[in-house]
Amino acid sequence: MPKVVVTGGSGMLGKWVVKHFVEQGYEVVNADVKQPAEHLCRTVIVDLTNLGEVYGVLAGADAVVHLAAIPVAYSHSNEVTFQNNVMSTYNVLEAAAGLGIRKAVIASSESSYGLVFARERFGPVYVPIDEDHPQLPEDSYGLSKIVNEQTADMIHRRTGMQVVSFRLGNVIAPEAYERFPQFIHDPAQRDRILWSYIDTRDAAEACRLAIEAEGLGSIALNLTADDTSMAIPSRELMAERFPEVNDFRRPLEGYETLLSNEKAKRLLNWQPEHVWRDQVKSV
Ligand SMILES: NC(=O)c1ccc[n+]([C@@H]2O[C@H](COP(=O)([O-])OP(=O)(O)OC[C@H]3O[C@@H](n4cnc5c(N)ncnc54)[C@H](O)[C@@H]3O)[C@@H](O)[C@H]2O)c1
Repeated sequence: MPKVVVTGGSGMLGKWVVKHFVEQGYEVVNADVKQPAEHLCRTVIVDLTNLGEVYGVLAGADAVVHLAAIPVAYSHSNEVTFQNNVMSTYNVLEAAAGLGIRKAVIASSESSYGLVFARERFGPVYVPIDEDHPQLPEDSYGLSKIVNEQTADMIHRRTGMQVVSFRLGNVIAPEAYERFPQFIHDPAQRDRILWSYIDTRDAAEACRLAIEAEGLGSIALNLTADDTSMAIPSRELMAERFPEVNDFRRPLEGYETLLSNEKAKRLLNWQPEHVWRDQVKSV
C-alpha cells in the first residue's frame, strides 16, 4: 500500500485530501502543527519550518502532498507569512529529495497572479487567465507561492522529482455552498478572484491524479471548477467589473471559468465533477 504524507491535513482542504487518499486505499499520515477536528488517519504534530521534524515525518513515504501554509495575506505580519510558507515548502521538498521521494504536490494559489490582495484593484492582462499569465503580487503570501513554485523547479532540476504546483482557486468545502446565495447575483463580490472556485473533493482527486501521473516534471497548474461561482454570464461579469480588459483569448461562453483549468484537465485526465449550480437551490 503506497504511503502518502499530507501536510496541513488538519486544515480545511487537507481534511478532504486525507479522506480521499484513505478512501483510495493509501496509507496516509497527516503532518500538521495541530490536531484535526476529525480523526481520519494518523496525525503527527510537526512544525514544518523545522527541517529535522520534516525528515522524521516523511521517512518511509512514497509521496507528499504539501498543503500546510498560512493560507491568506495579512492575517499575520508579512514576514511571518513569508517565512512560514517558504521555509515549510523548502523543508518538505528538501527532505523529500533527501529521502528519495519521487512525487510531490504543493499548494500554490491564484493569489500568485496578484489581483486578490492588491492595494489598488487591477484586472487581468487577459482572460481566461492561464498559467502563462504574469504573476504580480504585492503581498508576501502571493510571493511565497511564487518562491515555492521556484523551489519546486529547483528540486526537480537537482533530483528529477516530479512536483505539481496547484494554483488553486477559492477552495469550497461542501458546507460552504450554503453561502453562495449571498453573492451569486453581485459581480462586485469575489471579482478579485475572478469569481473562481474549486470544490475540495475535486481538488483532492486532482492531488491523487498528480501523484499517480508520470513524467510531468515540475509544473504549475490552475485548479478550478469549469464554471464561475456566479449566476451571471462570464462575459457580463468582465464587462461590468473589468471593462478595460479587452484581450479575450477566446470568446467566453456562458458561465465558463475565467481561470483556465484546461492544462490540469489535459495533463491529469482530470474532470471537476462538483458544480455549485447542482448544490444551491433557487438560483
Ligand atoms: N482556502 C483557499 O481558498 C485557498 C486558495 C488557494 C490556495 N490555497 C492553499 O491551499 C492550502 C490549504 O489551504 P486551507 O484553506 O485548507 O488552509 P487551512 O488554514 O485551513 O489549513 C492549513 C493547515 O496548515 C497547517 N500549518 C500551517 N503552517 C504550518 C507549519 N509551519 N507546520 C505544520 N502545519 C502548518 C495549519 O495548522 C492548518 O491546519 C494552503 O497552502 C493555501 O495557501 C487555499
